[in-house]
Amino acid sequence: PAPSGLNLKNIQGDILSGLPKKTETWYFFQISNPTKFRKDFRNFIPLVKSADGVLEDRKAIDKHKRQQGGGWKPHLIPIAGVNVSFSHFGFQKLGIDDAKLIDTAFLTGQRIDAGANLGDKGTGTGPNFVPDWEEPFKQEIHGVFIIAGESHPTVDKKIQHIEQIFGLGNASSIKKLIAIRGDVRPGALSAHEHFGYLDGISNPSIIGFDTNPPLGPAPIRAGAIILGHDGDLNKDNRAPWMVDGSFLAFRWLFQKVPEFDDFLNRNALQGPGMTRQQGADLLGARLVGRWKSGAPIDITPFDDDLEIAADPNRINNFHFTAETNFQKLCPFAAHVRKTLPRADLEFRGISLEKNRIVRRGIQFGPEVTKQEKVAKKTFHGRGLLFACYQSSLTDGFQFIQQSWANNPTFPPFETTPETPGLDPIIGQGPNRELSGYDPNDPSKVLKLDDLWVVPRGGEYFFSPSIKAMKDLIAA
Ligand code: HEM
Repeated sequence: PAPSGLNLKNIQGDILSGLPKKTETWYFFQISNPTKFRKDFRNFIPLVKSADGVLEDRKAIDKHKRQQGGGWKPHLIPIAGVNVSFSHFGFQKLGIDDAKLIDTAFLTGQRIDAGANLGDKGTGTGPNFVPDWEEPFKQEIHGVFIIAGESHPTVDKKIQHIEQIFGLGNASSIKKLIAIRGDVRPGALSAHEHFGYLDGISNPSIIGFDTNPPLGPAPIRAGAIILGHDGDLNKDNRAPWMVDGSFLAFRWLFQKVPEFDDFLNRNALQGPGMTRQQGADLLGARLVGRWKSGAPIDITPFDDDLEIAADPNRINNFHFTAETNFQKLCPFAAHVRKTLPRADLEFRGISLEKNRIVRRGIQFGPEVTKQEKVAKKTFHGRGLLFACYQSSLTDGFQFIQQSWANNPTFPPFETTPETPGLDPIIGQGPNRELSGYDPNDPSKVLKLDDLWVVPRGGEYFFSPSIKAMKDLIAA
């Protein structure tokens, strides 16, 4: 076991380490024949990559990079990783009692939660809510295979293998609902999301697992992410099979990139000697809370700084400490301030540990075309296959979306000089506006366009331990 007492051979690899990937397919399925599924599942388990397996892969990739003189050249070192997760409806179909997972968001499912709590658009109310989602996500989803790798052929081969295990056509124990392929963006844009900002910078460091964490937010106990460990607020109420598992929130998020760019251009900030492009870049940085390079505006508010961006001990080492009731450096509603308010809550002694999530998304869709740039309009679907792990959805993903991003009065300052407004990137609600976008007058309010990030599907899952797969799920 790791120093933390975590059994890395038992925990799925995407949770703690993140499956190494240049491409990743999310394969959503229904279980059509539970008895056969349980038998087939026994043959599937050897394909699953544990956290330990990922560490081995990373060593191999690092060695390969050293030999190549940098860069992970696809095809030269095929790497693939498979993980699996189940929804509440999947456990029901298998006759597995999952009540001790406790989480109401999980037990409700995301389709209904989307209307009740996440703010997604749709029709109907309560259990009859039908979100404006793609068809496959309006059906009951039982599980998802995540297949990550360095190239399409490697991933496609794994998918074929999985389909063979569960059987094809009428003889299959599963029904494929949809498989969505994600790809990191090309060249220097890799690791940047489609609006252009570097992503995947700030994930929580886990005590005992991340042995040498860079400077930044306080490291968290493993139980905030992995069930059954210290930091899991329901640790004492779990069934034994739940230990070493984690909840997975998946969201299929489409991004309207030309529309977002056009908005920045139309509303570009102005200052002495500033070009329109610089004004647009500054506005974008204020909406996200970071420059495209990843440098945080709390530290470098008026100019991007590539040196800060390149330094692991500086890129995430900011806390909003100098501005707990003040938004000249960074708007209260900026995406990274909304989703991890750091000193805004911590200065009052409120711990953020239970609200931390580990993000594992990947981009999907093509680069913006010339035609789209000219028309300032999206013609091709693209965005983020958003995914995050946590030991509680109601304190993690759901809480961040509902109580922070969609909540105009968060952070709730006693002395709040201005109403923060919505998270401009992911905030959903009737009044899409925020204050603080103009550093010269933080009380000015900016009306935002309709959503630039449009949810078109999603579900809540549980990623079981490998022991639970063997003892509980496989027959
Ligand atoms: C951070 C973009 C959706 C939660 C970030 C960052 C970017 C970004 C550029 C900064 C890089 C980093 O710190 O790693 C986006 C885009 C989204 C999206 C374009 C949609 C297409 C979401 C959603 C959530 C979320 C749905 C959760 C409800 C977070 C969190 C952080 C973050 C927790 C880290 C904050 C911190 O630790 O400072 N996002 N994001 N994001 N995002 Fe998002």
